[in-house]
Amino acid sequence: MSSKPGVERLSQSKFTTIAHRDHTILNPISSEKIDRVFALLDLPSGARVIDVGCGKAEMLVRLIERFGCTAIGVDTNPHFLAEARARAFDHGVAGQIELLEGDVTKMKLASETFDAALCVGATHAYGDLATTLKSLRGLVKTGGKVIVGDGL
Ligand SMILES: C[S@@+](CC[C@H](N)C(=O)[O-])C[C@H]1O[C@@H](n2cnc3c(N)ncnc32)[C@H](O)[C@@H]1O
Repeated sequence: MSSKPGVERLSQSKFTTIAHRDHTILNPISSEKIDRVFALLDLPSGARVIDVGCGKAEMLVRLIERFGCTAIGVDTNPHFLAEARARAFDHGVAGQIELLEGDVTKMKLASETFDAALCVGATHAYGDLATTLKSLRGLVKTGGKVIVGDGL
């Protein structure tokens, strides 16, 4: 691997994009388990949801379809986000989802404004589980829900 950070990052992005090309859910959780977890959520009408490390935004598309919420997805990978946009369009929810490209730790996200905040298979975005939990807690309103999936 090259010692140049920019080159290394490009390669990681390229290889992870290829490795996940046939997947819509980019972590080892089953489709059924996602639906079981989402069934436990009781989001209010007009709810706002954020997914950090949203990948192809499969989770957000499902939440929008289930609750009619609006959603923000954040991811560093432009290829995943392009697929996410196409996916949202195909499911007729493109108007309810905003997809932001970039490193979440460098973004200014309004605190305590979301009804739910997710980070599934992407705690490395924040560095570790504790920082992820604290950061997502800071994004949700009082009584908001936090969903974190981590490979412990
Ligand atoms: C294993 S994938 C999980 C994607 C999605 N949550 C899912 O389960 O389908 C991890 C995602 O986190 C994204 N990611 C990694 N570091 C990030 C960061 N600092 N900010 C935003 N997204 C990041 C990656 O690009 C990748 O799409």
